[in-house]
Amino acid sequence: MTLTSIDRINIAIDGPAGAGKSTVARKVAAALNYVYVDTGAMYRAVALHALRNGIKPSQASELQALVEAIDLKLVPTPEGQKILLHNEDVTELIRSREVTAQVSHYASDEHVRKKLGDMQRLLAKHKGIVMDGRDIGTHVLPDAELKIFLTASVEERALRRYRELTESNYIPLEQLEAEIAARDRLDETRDIAPLIQAEDALLLDSSDMSIDEVVAFIVKLGNTKLMGVSE
Ligand code: DC
Repeated sequence: MTLTSIDRINIAIDGPAGAGKSTVARKVAAALNYVYVDTGAMYRAVALHALRNGIKPSQASELQALVEAIDLKLVPTPEGQKILLHNEDVTELIRSREVTAQVSHYASDEHVRKKLGDMQRLLAKHKGIVMDGRDIGTHVLPDAELKIFLTASVEERALRRYRELTESNYIPLEQLEAEIAARDRLDETRDIAPLIQAEDALLLDSSDMSIDEVVAFIVKLGNTKLMGVSE
C-alpha cells in the first residue's frame, strides 16, 4: 500500500436552504486557501436579471435567450464572493425577498441549469474549489473528491434565519418555517437536477453542531483526501 498525495481537490457542499452551506463553504475555502464558489448566487443573479426584464419563469424561450447572453462574473474578495451582472455589483440585490421568493422557479428551467452548470464546471476545472449548491455532487462535479450533504431540521434552519432578522425586516418564525419548507419542496421535486444527496456524499446534520465544528470536520476530511491511499 502506498500513500499518494495530490495537490488540490474539489469539494462539493450541497443541501437545503439555510443549512449553513455558504458560511461553511467560505470558511473551508479560507482554511485550505481554496476559492469559494456560491452557485446559489448565480441562480439568484439570473432571477434578478429576468425579473428586471419582465421575463417569467414560464417564458422558456425568452429565458433561454436571456441566459445565453448573460454576463456574470464571480469575483473573490477578502470579504467574500462578489457577483457582477453585466459589470454591476448585485451582491446585495440578489438577497432581496423578491429574488428569494422567485429564484427556485427560475432555477427549474433546463436552459438556466445547463448554462450555469457549464460555467460552474469551467470554474472548477483546475481544482482547489469549494462549491456549494443543490446539485454540485450529483450533476455539476460528480467527480469531486469530497462531497458533503449538509442539512439541519426545518425548525433549526428557520430559527437561524429568525435570529438574523432586525426590527425593519421582521418576519414571524412560523412564516419563515413555511417559506423554507416550500423552497425545499420546489428544489427537491423539480424534474432537472433536484436537490438530493449524492450516493457518495457524506451526510452531515448541523442541527446540533456549531459552524466551526462543521468547518473543522470538513477541513480534516479534505486533508485526508489530499493524502489519498492507494494499492
Ligand atoms: O443557496 P441559495 O438559497 O442562495 O439558492 C438560491 C436558489 O437557487 C435555491 O432556491 C435553489 C437554487 N439553486 C439550485 O437550484 N442549484 C444550485 N446549485 C444552487 C442553488
